[in-house]
Amino acid sequence: MQEIIKSIEEKLAELAEAYQPEGSEIKAVIHQWIHAIAFNHNLFGEERGVDKEKIITCLKDAGLYKNQELFKAQVTDAIHLKQPSSKDDKGFTFIDLFAGIGGMRQGFEKAGGKCVFSSEFEKNAQKTYEQNYGEYPFGDITKIKVEDIPDHDVLVGGFPCQPFSHAGKKLGIEDTRGTLFHNIATIIHHKRPKAVVLENVKGLISHDKGYTLQVVLTTLINEGYTCAIPDEIILGDNILKLQKEAKKMVMKSREFGVPQNRQRIYIVLWRNDLPVSFKYPEPTLFETSVGQILEANVAESFTISDKLWAGHQNRKVKNKEAGKGFGFGLVKHDTVYTNTISARYYKDGGEILIHQDDANPRKLTPREAARLQGFPDNFLINKSNTQAYKQFGNSVTVPVVHAVAANIREQILELNA
Ligand SMILES: C[S@@+](CC[C@H](N)C(=O)[O-])C[C@H]1O[C@@H](n2cnc3c(N)ncnc32)[C@H](O)[C@@H]1O
Repeated sequence: MQEIIKSIEEKLAELAEAYQPEGSEIKAVIHQWIHAIAFNHNLFGEERGVDKEKIITCLKDAGLYKNQELFKAQVTDAIHLKQPSSKDDKGFTFIDLFAGIGGMRQGFEKAGGKCVFSSEFEKNAQKTYEQNYGEYPFGDITKIKVEDIPDHDVLVGGFPCQPFSHAGKKLGIEDTRGTLFHNIATIIHHKRPKAVVLENVKGLISHDKGYTLQVVLTTLINEGYTCAIPDEIILGDNILKLQKEAKKMVMKSREFGVPQNRQRIYIVLWRNDLPVSFKYPEPTLFETSVGQILEANVAESFTISDKLWAGHQNRKVKNKEAGKGFGFGLVKHDTVYTNTISARYYKDGGEILIHQDDANPRKLTPREAARLQGFPDNFLINKSNTQAYKQFGNSVTVPVVHAVAANIREQILELNA
């Protein structure tokens, strides 16, 4: 089936060239078009004149399109991580920004969402994304024309946390220029999605003494959106109160059946004109244990060397003396949860070491790292262990995203009823 996709890529290259943003591969445009035709949503560049019929005619001439049903079946066949089939077609659309390896995408697809656009500029993550979702993401979001992005119900993005300048009025989007949040806010301004989901580290709450959070929320309030924190608290000058409220948006992976102590903020905002009563999901509180993510047979290469083990232990003593916490995190099968896996796990594995009775502790395998983020076992992992650890450390916990996405879907279905 991959051959058909290759032939389509060759056939559409010339047509797609005119719409290829700087910093994006031509494949990204073509894959978006293929998916838009197969799954019946808007095309990238439609506002600038891209025409579905023209693309279909071009494919028909090359014998690559017979009818919609067959085309959909062929495209679906070429997707490794298939979207769970839903009984009805009452889904919703979303865009996946700062997509990484698509942890957010999985949670939203599981809730019936249809991804209509994705962007991620790191090459290795792009490859992993393509392998799993059959779609090569667009690159640098700062280089993409906002009018080219297809309409969508939900904007999803785990954006890098950057400080805002303290000069200026901070009343609107223009005051956030020079940050990646500015690009998100610009898309929201033009596309007016029903909902916005911004995922970030818990540290966003204290970043720049709460100022970053306040600017993000104030900008979006001024764009006509509301979140769970009352506007007067966001617009007021009691930062501590704002931070206290923001903590209620923090979700813990270990409360959603995953044995990891990850805490991330999920800011969910809704367009003001919509009558919604969104609630954050209640924890499932399933019992967890590290054993649930461990593989049975693990190669010896994951066992850390005597030198590294000695280094971890020495650091622990020094840190304790300096009152700086404990350093490495050693867990057993029956430990309830691990520390948070971070993008730097590949360096020395210090935050999560698995106890072994008759050897030094070992690192997680990449598959275990995937499970620790709730990724399914059929997820195709990058062949480089370093890349794999970075990608999972940077990602999100899928069951947490799914719980948030399911509550969003419920609201959208009610709005559409
Ligand atoms: C914290 S990660 C998000 C990971 C994602 N939620 C997942 O499930 O894998 C942030 C991502 O934003 C990407 N990124 C940063 N700046 C970008 C830009 N200007 N355009 C596109 N992607 C960008 C990074 O490469 C990184 O993969």
